[in-house]
Amino acid sequence: MTQKRVRVFSGARPTGKQHLGNYLGAILNYVEMQKDFDCIYSIVDIHALTTVETTLQLKENCLDMALDWLAAGVDPEQSIVFIQSHVPQVMELHTLLSMVVPMGKLTDLPTFKEKVRMHPQNVNYGLLGYPVLMSADILLYKAELVPVGIDQAPHLEFTREVVRSFNYQYNTQVLLEPQMKNTPVMKVLGTDGVNKMSKSLNNEIEIAADAPTTKKLVMSMVTDTNRKLRSDPGNPDICNVFSFHKMFSSQEEIGMIDVECRRAGIGCVDCKKTLATNINNAMAPFRERRHEWMKKPKQVWEILYNGADRARTIADVTMAEVRDAIGLPRYR
Ligand code: TRP
Repeated sequence: MTQKRVRVFSGARPTGKQHLGNYLGAILNYVEMQKDFDCIYSIVDIHALTTVETTLQLKENCLDMALDWLAAGVDPEQSIVFIQSHVPQVMELHTLLSMVVPMGKLTDLPTFKEKVRMHPQNVNYGLLGYPVLMSADILLYKAELVPVGIDQAPHLEFTREVVRSFNYQYNTQVLLEPQMKNTPVMKVLGTDGVNKMSKSLNNEIEIAADAPTTKKLVMSMVTDTNRKLRSDPGNPDICNVFSFHKMFSSQEEIGMIDVECRRAGIGCVDCKKTLATNINNAMAPFRERRHEWMKKPKQVWEILYNGADRARTIADVTMAEVRDAIGLPRYR
């Protein structure tokens, strides 16, 4: 008998192959949390629809995401891993929750404003409801803890407000107010050295990329821009390559670079070569495992179907309680 553990929920949009930013910022944390919590990890394909231009890659992107998670060490025996739309109850809950959500709350959210700014020609109803669907994700599974980065914190606060409004409106306790678990903050910058690593900015290094591709990208990374000549001293404190060394290199190497860069003892080219080697060494086991999983997509889909079955069992219980709490007429 395993003892009851705190339930964690997290979702990620299937945007295709994941990059080092996703890996360091989210995926490793997913793996880590399995030690202490009962985890439910969802590939949120419906959320992806809010901004996607074409769904041609959607299935493949879902599979890619699953491959990355599995190869990183997300264990489907222990955790529930599934695709959001395979448990359609989440959309039912989304509609029911929407009745207690004031419009102004949605239009005020920084994430919504940002998306309107970025895609003014594609502001759809689904985009406005994005946080409500995210609340439904969390509440359907009665998650107690949700790991969030700073960008998602307002959504979690929103979810907590939805719970209070719903429970107050229907005089019930069925929905559980989730706690926020700050992820070990790690803002990973892209190869441009200034912006957060992101596929849309084309500054990413895919975790599943092969060693030569990774090396090529690392060699293209922007360093301390004040350092123009090899003989100029550099400043590791403002160099993104050095930030990566801190995550992938040994203490000795980090110490050496910290000293040598400042007195032009080491050049950016050598510094990047070392980094590329270290990233490739660190990612080699991951890449091998991913390769193995890639050979058996049927088994991966089976894992996702199984996860959905387990998730649906939880969802059905919550939905029955929610319907009763609202006072909807029962059906056969
Ligand atoms: N909105 C999250 C993101 O963009 C993804 C997400 C959807 C999520 N549902 C969730 C995250 C539930 C945590 C919990 O990253």
